[in-house]
Amino acid sequence: MRLCSCVVSLLTLLSSSSALAQTAASNVILLRCSKLLDVRQGRYITNAGVLIQNGKIVSVESGHILSPGTPRIIDAPGTCLPGLIDVHVHLTSDPEEGGFGYAELGNSIPREAIFGAKNARRTLMSGFTTVRNVGARGYTDVALRDGINAGDIPGPRMQVSGPALTITGGHGDDNLLPYEYHHFGQGVANGPWAVREKVRENVKFGADLIKVLASGGVLSKGDTPGAPQYTLEELKAIADEAHKLGRKVAAHAHGTQSIKDAILAGIDTIEHSSLIDDEGIALAKQHHTYLDFDIYNDDYILAEGAKHGMLPESIEKEKGVGRLQRENFRKAFQAGALMGFATDGGVYPHGDNWKQFPKMVEWGMKPIDAIRAATLNGADIMSWSDQVGAIEKGHFADIIAIDGDPLADVNAMGKVKFVMKGGEVYRNDFIAARPE
Ligand code: ARG
Repeated sequence: MRLCSCVVSLLTLLSSSSALAQTAASNVILLRCSKLLDVRQGRYITNAGVLIQNGKIVSVESGHILSPGTPRIIDAPGTCLPGLIDVHVHLTSDPEEGGFGYAELGNSIPREAIFGAKNARRTLMSGFTTVRNVGARGYTDVALRDGINAGDIPGPRMQVSGPALTITGGHGDDNLLPYEYHHFGQGVANGPWAVREKVRENVKFGADLIKVLASGGVLSKGDTPGAPQYTLEELKAIADEAHKLGRKVAAHAHGTQSIKDAILAGIDTIEHSSLIDDEGIALAKQHHTYLDFDIYNDDYILAEGAKHGMLPESIEKEKGVGRLQRENFRKAFQAGALMGFATDGGVYPHGDNWKQFPKMVEWGMKPIDAIRAATLNGADIMSWSDQVGAIEKGHFADIIAIDGDPLADVNAMGKVKFVMKGGEVYRNDFIAARPE
């Protein structure tokens, strides 16, 4: 397909914006896409031109060509999409670096910060320009976010939670070591006032949101994914305190009761959502609570987990939730629940986030629904709808291009060729592919 079927001069284009006319051409980029997916309408714009100024989108038009002397032109002869959003990652955890279980105990907090730098880059290069990091030790996530924002290292835009709140002996309490080591997880807090204090502490040290472990989990020792951990009273205190401080709350909840408790407590997103029942789905809809299902994980955990140190107990627990989670994902989607794209990256290797797209399609979504979860819905979850998640005027120029037609074959989401974040190009395989 050839670019630029109709001819509009740069002058026409520029004069349509008085702000632009005053701007140095170097701040102005025209990105030309063979096709551009309008995620809101669910249709393609062919031969699209995206005009970008100072890192933000000024206009999106179809069929533009520019005459010589124009701003910088970048050609993306593929399908352009908004930069993708994953609302559940752990960039400072790495299955291939010490992995899980007892093997992971050898990783220091500074070492985890370095994993974060590596994985932030990988995540960005794979097309995810925004992530929500929901759980990290030692505020490595805060440092990572700040380092990326300062331009020290490449990475996605981040919202971070700091250490996840957990009950003593809960999913986040590092239960591997025996008593005489006197070791407790950093997010341990019990009781309504103690959890409020922990929320305040996380906010003090830079958290954008609060993560709470409402039920047991898979990758922890001695607990049960289906069993509640925090009480409704504690969850209410967490939600109230966080909201008072202007922070949203994400609750890890596999269990049927914990999911309902978290929704009733006013928590904003339910992570994993594995054992949700019809009543839970109805409650989520009623309260406009997002349900996040990390349905790619099961494949990786069962195939690779043991090799990377996951406890035999964890593999057994996974067998108890994996399939049910996928069935409940389909139910929740068919019932019309709000859903995000949340993968738990860090359980599987970072950069493979896209592998959840085909899973979401396999379990009932159309490709456009899965793409909307990873764009419009992700932005809504992060309260950034006016900034990311769509290629629209006023948004950051966070734009990727892939090879192929993702609406026809969602596996195209894994064929990322081009990544721009805030108007800056981080990856352009189209140029590399061109003979010199
Ligand atoms: N971090 C989660 C936990 O340990 C991973 C759950 C993965 N399993 C799944 N089916 N999504 O509980």
